[in-house]
Amino acid sequence: MKTWMTLCAGLVLAAPALAAADGPALYEQHCARCHGATGNADTWRGYLYFAPAFSDADWQRRHGDERILRAINRGPGAMPAFEKTLTADERQALVGVIRGFAPK
Ligand code: HEC
Repeated sequence: MKTWMTLCAGLVLAAPALAAADGPALYEQHCARCHGATGNADTWRGYLYFAPAFSDADWQRRHGDERILRAINRGPGAMPAFEKTLTADERQALVGVIRGFAPK
């Protein structure tokens, strides 16, 4: 009985970690204040810190997934590093969000 209860509690606690990372929600929470809701860096912080606009086709061409992931991990310039605060899945999901800002 006791083992069973411990097992149930373990499953409940592990459930959020098993869910797929919600890229757009993570972006909204951690990145939008500087990079803007649409990736245009059209925020006061974006202007102040010289954040790049992800909606620029040229920017997208010049930046590979590897480089985007490295930026999220280390935080260039005024940007914070997210290597320790976000899981690998979450950081990977954010690369997808940045890619999604490319002009269609
Ligand atoms: C405090 C403001 C701030 C926050 C929050 C922030 N960034 Fe940035 N970000 C910047 C600035 C400023 C730059 C430009 C840094 C430089 O090149 O000097 C940048 C650059 C980048 C780049 C381009 C790096 C390169 O190699 O050119 C990517 C990609 C990026 N940010 C993604 C993110 C993601 C994803 C998040 C959320 C997890 C995030 N940023 C959160 C300010 C921020």
